[in-house]
Amino acid sequence: MALLPILRFPDPRLKKVAARVPQIDDSIRKLVADMAETMYEAPGIGLAATQVDVHKRVVVIDVSEDKSELRVFINPALGKCDGSQVGEEGCLSVPGIYDKVERAERVSVSYMDLEGKEQVLEAEGLLAVCIQHEIDHLNGTVFVDHLSMLKQTRIKNKMAKQARVTA
Ligand code: NI
Repeated sequence: MALLPILRFPDPRLKKVAARVPQIDDSIRKLVADMAETMYEAPGIGLAATQVDVHKRVVVIDVSEDKSELRVFINPALGKCDGSQVGEEGCLSVPGIYDKVERAERVSVSYMDLEGKEQVLEAEGLLAVCIQHEIDHLNGTVFVDHLSMLKQTRIKNKMAKQARVTA
């Protein structure tokens, strides 16, 4: 396994739309293992392949307290969504920034598991938020894109300042 570098907003590669995974092979299994290690190390509760500059529809999520419930979603697609919730979101690609985003309260997501089987999961609360946030990444959207233009500009300035300090 290996830790993967995480792209930082506003890197233009975060805007790429990821391609569907036709089948599970060793390269996908290795990608998932590396993404999980990278997410746990960060630490974060979700990571999309887009964030590690791999433009394939692969997401890892673990919203459990003790980091014992790794969930892997290949080609995740939202089905029925209902309700709404507003929660404070952050992102490993936008370190140090948190803001409120409105999301569906409950979602149904269909996906392929690591064995190549089609699955459907009904999720709510934090897990539902995380699934929506990560699928956004696969479509080239960062949570910042849901905020006002004024906030987006402020965040871009802050990121540029951070990059200068850490470079
Ligand atoms: Ni994110």
